[in-house]
Amino acid sequence: MTKLLIDCDPGIDDALALALAAGSPYLEVVGVTTVGGNVDLARTTANALALREFLDLGDVPVTPGAAGALLRKTVRAAHVHGSTGLGDAVLPPPTRPACEGHAVDFIVNTLRASPGEITLVATGPLTNIALAVRREPRIVEWARDFVIMGGSYTRGNHNPAAEFNMLADPEAASIVFDAGWTVKMLGLDVTLKALVTTEVLDRMRPLGRLADVLLVPAASAYGMVTAEGGPAIHDACAVAYALDPSLFTCVPAVVRVETAGLYTSGMTVTDFKLHDRPANALVATSLEAGRFWDVVLEAYGRLARRLG
Ligand code: BDR
Ligand code: CA
Repeated sequence: MTKLLIDCDPGIDDALALALAAGSPYLEVVGVTTVGGNVDLARTTANALALREFLDLGDVPVTPGAAGALLRKTVRAAHVHGSTGLGDAVLPPPTRPACEGHAVDFIVNTLRASPGEITLVATGPLTNIALAVRREPRIVEWARDFVIMGGSYTRGNHNPAAEFNMLADPEAASIVFDAGWTVKMLGLDVTLKALVTTEVLDRMRPLGRLADVLLVPAASAYGMVTAEGGPAIHDACAVAYALDPSLFTCVPAVVRVETAGLYTSGMTVTDFKLHDRPANALVATSLEAGRFWDVVLEAYGRLARRLG
């Protein structure tokens, strides 16, 4: 069983990542922290709370964190995720509140309490993680693993140079990559292969309430679904890596985050030639998409049976 602490900004694909974690018998979510990202912090937190109940995550603590980037003006992605952050999905409103306290304290305290046991997964801008690293640098030793959806060595999506989570807070991303751990980087290079095609959507449709309320309306609002392509469920790749790293090919690299560029801020400059330098990242370079969907849909199926 792998224990996950998920820092996220739900977000359609964050929601689909949480659903994967909730449905897998091999993963246990021990905490969810939220960050302002795709939509503002109040929304990402409300969505995480609604998802906790809808996905039957029990008493898993949901703790809000940073509302915006360390230094930059706010960048949102509501044009992709809709004004609520969850596309056309409308979840029952949460009945239980968020935890008191701040995500950064929750991250530090949770990792300190169980050194070597918890995998930290980040699927939003890295503001909370950077603040946690600054507050307590030993979290890089305490985390069993650290996995992000973010960056790319080939291209951006928010602009030609930068992926959204990196662009939203480049200084935070830079702190996190330079913190002394090996960041497992699931970037656009692989996440753009995790596409909700017509075939995938057809496999989701029979999954009862889970499909009707979340999977189908969220995925369909997120981009055009066709036989050949469709919206990428980027963030689910980070949880899938925690579940089964063999779904991906990964290559050690030195990754630096551009913070000074006029047109390139947030670019993850990735050097696969180490030149005797220690790698600070393991960068995913390919994904077995067929097996990925088998794993994801099996977990969704299991969750769907539980939800009825
Ligand atoms: C990332 O940006 C967000 O819009 C998604 O939730 C994902 O985390 C993809 O670039
Ligand atoms: Ca996200």
